[in-house]
Formats: sequence, C-alpha cells, structure tokens
Amino acid sequence: MKINYRNIHEFIDELERSDELIRFQEPVSSRLEITEITDRMSKLPGGGKAILFENVKDSEFPVLMNQFGSEKRINMALGSESLDELAGRLQAIINMKPPKSFMEKIRLLPELLKYSRFLPRTHKGKAPCQEVILKGGDVDLTKLPVLFCWPDDGGPFVTLPVVFTKGLSDGKRNAGMYRMQIFDRNTTGMHWHIHKDGAHHYHEYIKAGKRMEVAVAIGTDPAVTYSATAPMPRGIDEMLLAGFIRRAPVRMAKCVTVDLEVPAEAEFIIEGYVDPGERRVEGPFGDHTGYYSLKGDYPVFHVTAITHRKNAVYSATIVGKPPMEDCYMALATERLFLPMIKTVLPEIKDYMLPWEGVFHNIAVIAIDKEFPHHAGKVMNGMWGSGQMSFAKILVMIDDEKLLYDRGRLIRHILDTIDFHDDVTLTKGILDVLDHSAEKPLYGSKLGIDATARIAGEEPRSEEAIHGSMNSSALSHEFSQLDENFTCAASALDECRNRVILLNAKKAGGKNSQFFINRIRNSSLKNQGIFVILDSDIDLKNYSVVLWKIFNNVDPSRDMVFEKDCVIIDATKKGIADGHSREWPDDIEMSEDVKKKVDGMLTGHPEFFM
Ligand SMILES: Cc1cc2nc3c(=O)[nH]c(=O)nc-3n(C[C@H](O)[C@H](O)[C@H](O)COP(=O)(O)O)c2cc1C
Repeated sequence: MKINYRNIHEFIDELERSDELIRFQEPVSSRLEITEITDRMSKLPGGGKAILFENVKDSEFPVLMNQFGSEKRINMALGSESLDELAGRLQAIINMKPPKSFMEKIRLLPELLKYSRFLPRTHKGKAPCQEVILKGGDVDLTKLPVLFCWPDDGGPFVTLPVVFTKGLSDGKRNAGMYRMQIFDRNTTGMHWHIHKDGAHHYHEYIKAGKRMEVAVAIGTDPAVTYSATAPMPRGIDEMLLAGFIRRAPVRMAKCVTVDLEVPAEAEFIIEGYVDPGERRVEGPFGDHTGYYSLKGDYPVFHVTAITHRKNAVYSATIVGKPPMEDCYMALATERLFLPMIKTVLPEIKDYMLPWEGVFHNIAVIAIDKEFPHHAGKVMNGMWGSGQMSFAKILVMIDDEKLLYDRGRLIRHILDTIDFHDDVTLTKGILDVLDHSAEKPLYGSKLGIDATARIAGEEPRSEEAIHGSMNSSALSHEFSQLDENFTCAASALDECRNRVILLNAKKAGGKNSQFFINRIRNSSLKNQGIFVILDSDIDLKNYSVVLWKIFNNVDPSRDMVFEKDCVIIDATKKGIADGHSREWPDDIEMSEDVKKKVDGMLTGHPEFFM
C-alpha cells in the first residue's frame, strides 16, 4: 500500500491502479450535471468509486470527484490500513512519557527525530503550483470548472478549498476548509463560520482595522485536503497533521502576491485578501445537512493572483443528503480525534457520530463510569470542547460494542432510559448550519444518560411507555382523532418503550402544538414514544426518520416529557409554530437534470451496481 502522495496526480494514479477510479469522458456540465452523476455514485453501497470528469464543458481542466468517498478510499488517501491504525499512531505520540533520566532521553531521540521529519519544509526551486501565474487583469475565476451544485444554490461554489491565513497576534498559520461562492472574475465569498479558526484570525484583523491576506489551495495531496477539515486545536498547524499522516513533510512555497505559504504541489492557488468589515450576502447552498444552508453575510475575498500547474486537475466535492463523500472524511475525524478527546476526558472509551446526525447534531459516547452522575460530567465536558461543543444531542452509554451495532444501540436506549430522570435539557452554542433552533448559533441541547445506574444513583423507574395496538389499528385511531394524522406505524415493539411514528399534515391552521395537544389529551398518549413527521415522510425509512429527528428538533421546544407521554415533533416549523426564522428546503435535484443524466449514464454499468 502506498503511504503517501506528493500530489493529487499520484493519488489519481493509485486510485486507478486499485480500480477505484472511473474516467468519465463524455462532455458534462459543471452546472448540476456533475453533482447528479456524483450523487448517484456516492449513494451506491459502500460509496462507489472516484470519478475523473475529463471533458468538462467550458473548461480546460478535468474535475476529480468522490476521491475520499468510501472506507477504502479514505484509508488510501491517508495511507493507513485502517482509521483506527492511524489513530493508534497518534495515540502513541500522546502516550509518550517525558524522559526522566539522561539515558531515557537518549533512547527517545530516534523517535523524536522521526516526528521532526514531518514538519513542513520550504520548497526549493520553482513550485509546481506556480507553473502558470495569472495576475491583475488576467485573473478570471470563471475559467475554473467550479461546480454549481444544486438548483437553488446562490451561485457556483469552490467546495474543497484549503484556506490559509495567518494570525495577526502570533503569526501562526491556519488551514481550514471553508466553501467559497464565486461572485465574479475576481471575488468570492469566504464562508468561515463564526466559531472557526479562520474567523478568529479575521476578527483579529477587524480589531486592528487591517487588510487580511488569504491564500487558497485547490487540488492538494489528499492528506493536506483532509487536514484542512480536521478540528485541530487553535494554533496547531494543520500542515503538521498532514505531515504526520503522510509520514513526510508538506513542502510549502511562497505565494507570488501575498506573504503566505501554500503547498507547492497543489494544482491551483488563489491568492488575495479580505478587507475588515466588508461583507456580502453568500448562499444559499445545498449543504451537508441535506438542506440548503440559508443566505448570510460573509467576508469578501478579493483575488490578486491565480497560479496553477500546466496540467492542473480541479478537485471538488458535493454535499447533500447523507451518505456522501464528506461522511467518510468525518469518519476519519471521528476516529483520529478519539485519542485527542481522551486527553481531556480519559473516561471516554469510544464514540460515534451517526451519519443521520450530520456530525454536529448527535454523538453517542461510551464511558467507563466510576462515580454517580459521571455521565453528566462527560456531557458538560463535551459541550465545552472544541467543535464537539456544537453537538445538539449527546447520548451516554457504557458498552462501546453497542456503537458498532445500531439496532442493538437503539434497543438498549429504549429499554434503559427513564424519560424523567435520564434526560437533561440545557443550552449552548450550535453549528451555524443548525436550522431547528429559534435563533441562529444558540439553542437547546439534550443529554440522554443510558448508562447503568450504580451505587449513589437512584434506581430507575420500571414504568414503560408501551401500548398494544398494531400499526393498522393505530392508523385508524389516529385518523379518527384528527383527519390530518395521515398514517401511523409502530416500531421497535420488542423494546420496553416502543416508538410510534406519525405522519401529520400541517394544513388548515393546524400547527405543531395542535398535533401535540391532540396526542397528549387522548387515550392513545401512552401507546409509545410518539415521533411526529411531515406527511411526505416514508415511515418505513428509518434512516430518513432519524435524519429528520436529529435535524428538525429543537429539544426544549419540540419534545414533551410527561409522566406517561413522550412526544418528539420532527416536522418542519414555521411562524405558526413560533419559529420566526426561515426554514430551509430539503435539497432535491431538478427533474430535467435527472432525466438528462439518465441518458448520459446508459452504457455506464458501474453506476448501477
Ligand atoms: C467539504 C467540507 C466543506 C466544509 N465547508 C465549511 C464551510 O464552508 N465553513 C466552515 O466554517 N466549515 C466548513 N467545513 C468544516 C471545517 O472545514 C472544519 O470545521 C475545520 O475543522 C475548520 O478548520 P479550523 O478549525 O481551522 O477553523 C467543511 C468541511 C468539509 C469536509
């Protein structure tokens, strides 16, 4: 197995050798068509293959898609046998004990020297990323095959950029992946969320009233691309992580118009600056939540130079309804960051971020419980740690094996918890992409303690929320209760607390509160834990049901916990429900593009496996 790649060309070669790459030679548009083709590929079992679009209309550059989009390819990208093996390498450094004696220092030296070899180095000679240099009037971003990803997007977006900035106070480098909307030939949006390190640098420049230089690399070797997405603690250089992953340093070249360094082997570099205080509406954008992220004011990036290789490959991703390529990048982060989380919360044995929670909505955490209410201590720790602080729901368990068996995990939670004693509601910061909370960036959070009770904790109540009606009886009874309950289905009947999924049609002034009251005032209220879903949701598709629950629920507003009645309202909310913010639409591809792609893919059996 190849453990590192100097650049994306070497990675493409390796993907091809491993039969992980499709070369797509028919003419294709970067407007929606690449998205539709890639989406179909990434929804194949296991994530399909990477695709190199070699004939992109109106652009001389090929486009690489889905390079990280399977467990095999994310491991190839990071040069690891398995993500746990990579995490183990990191754990070994963290576990390294400081030497106590002179002899121990000597013994540690080879190990330390090995790691020092991973530090970023300065590239000598002409950098490949600067084979072509375009400045001033020659700058034209519209020449790049930037994808217009989804029908209601605000414009084309650069979706895999590695954005380099330098702190004003400490001069330290940051590399983050923040999407960029193309506004015209030489300006883009700069979508660093308010909590991210790029935004932190920007605030320093705003305070000082200074222009901030920015450089963006597109089409970097896969370790560099991944590292820009990794939630490294502020002040720690992502190029160090990339060097560690690749077991070889990232070679950095000086930019031609700004005082920043970028990976010399990148395909494209976009150099420029952001002026303090200048903002422009950015979005909407079909995002990794499966919804359009809403329009917002973001800084404007002015481009002073574009440099690129002569044979440059543009690399991109699409995000949308999971599972997609970013799920595998997030899986790498989940695994790689376990050792780092453990340095702060050593009682954590393992954790898992289900795809349906789109990473920031839910984490399930297995702990080694030692004292009463230990789960609560870990919840608070997680809600205060780096990007884990965005988590809307935290579920605590004892047995880490449950993390790898979703059916057993859900049954364990339903069999165990006491809805009055095991549920904590609190408030905190939320990811900017959360749309369920009343206000952006801040809202309610739910903690569920499904660990075993130990000495010092009250035993749980034995009460269960479980009736005996079957799905057709429930459908009938609910349609009698209100005609806008269009379907009911029981689920997980074998559990102590079972679940009843309900379709409700919010029409004719019937809002969430109406349906909630209908249930809680009826004799059906203790038939099971009710989940109310919009009328178009397929109640048999549990993955979609979970996705709706994790994305649409503001726990303190949308959950009812009463003695014999638990209701979760996972419907879309609006003004009638007391939700004054805009509610984003689900992402859907337009019918004409789907039809066109149907035609393009005949003769491509690899899309129908
Ligand atoms: C494909 C992809 C696109 C992303 N787009 C954004 C974005 O537009 N804005 C943002 O703040 N984070 C985005 N992220 C997440 C950040 O890259 C991630 O939080 C990273 O840790 C940020 O780096 P930082 O900690 O140095 O700020 C994206 C991640 C991926 C995988």
